[in-house]
Amino acid sequence: MEIAYYGGEFIDINSKVIPIQERGHQFGDGIYEVIRVYNGKLFLVDEHLHRLEKSAEAIFLSLPLSLDELKSLMTEGLSKSQLKEAEVYIQITRGIAPRTHYFPEVPSQLSMTIKAARAIDPTKHKNGISVLLLEDERWKNCFIKSLNLLPNVLAKQKAISSGNDEAIFIKDGLITEGSSSNLFVVKDGILYTAPATNKILHGITRSAVLQLAAKRDIDIKEVEFDVEFLLQADEAFITSTSVEVQPIAKIDQHSLPTPWPITMHLQEDYKKLYIQS
Ligand code: PDD
Repeated sequence: MEIAYYGGEFIDINSKVIPIQERGHQFGDGIYEVIRVYNGKLFLVDEHLHRLEKSAEAIFLSLPLSLDELKSLMTEGLSKSQLKEAEVYIQITRGIAPRTHYFPEVPSQLSMTIKAARAIDPTKHKNGISVLLLEDERWKNCFIKSLNLLPNVLAKQKAISSGNDEAIFIKDGLITEGSSSNLFVVKDGILYTAPATNKILHGITRSAVLQLAAKRDIDIKEVEFDVEFLLQADEAFITSTSVEVQPIAKIDQHSLPTPWPITMHLQEDYKKLYIQS
């Protein structure tokens, strides 16, 4: 059963409960996290909660619950839902108050949904996806997991409506990340990804994959690279909580050479990591 939480109680996921004066609704004034549940267990939950705390600090938002209380609440919701393969979405906003741009003195608001995990298309996992390169029109604090996702939404829509699966952002000629994923490139056996600066979201899957690559003794370079470098890649892939490790077959109609041994090893290693967790 898919369920939600708002105003301090578990509710039906289709309930109409968000007050019109909610700042998340009016300004996108808040932050969020998406956590995957595999076999009934929250995966990399401490890492996600740590990032939630960092996002909150960056926008001067106090969390309504401690990280331990948040974890207990998610566990409670999960057991109520009885879902084994799920996605937990938590959103924290600056609260409910008459609309003013400056901060109101009201408590922050927590909402949560627990839904069945979206299935990953096995063909895409094996044969790869196609991506569209687009200008990164976002702001300067992309490390914050902010509710304001308009540039990401517009980019993803452009990618999908042109027959692609993901948009990859270019900022000042350099590749940053995907509209809802991080990007990796393999060239001459070395794994490249953009450094964890304020230009990208510091993906939890990205960190896990970097650790898995280190365990395989793969050389890693967290450096900025341009479009030309991406197009000359031996392999490329995206990572996120929802798509895990997904190979890229085509970039703006340019096909990458096959096979993709490092990508496929890391895809397998990531799967083992959550199966064993
Ligand atoms: N998106 N970069 C962006 C812009 C993202 O929105 C996401 C995740 C990632 C990958 O982060 P992680 O590995 O922690 O999921 C990178 C989530 C899944 C979402 O918005 O649904």
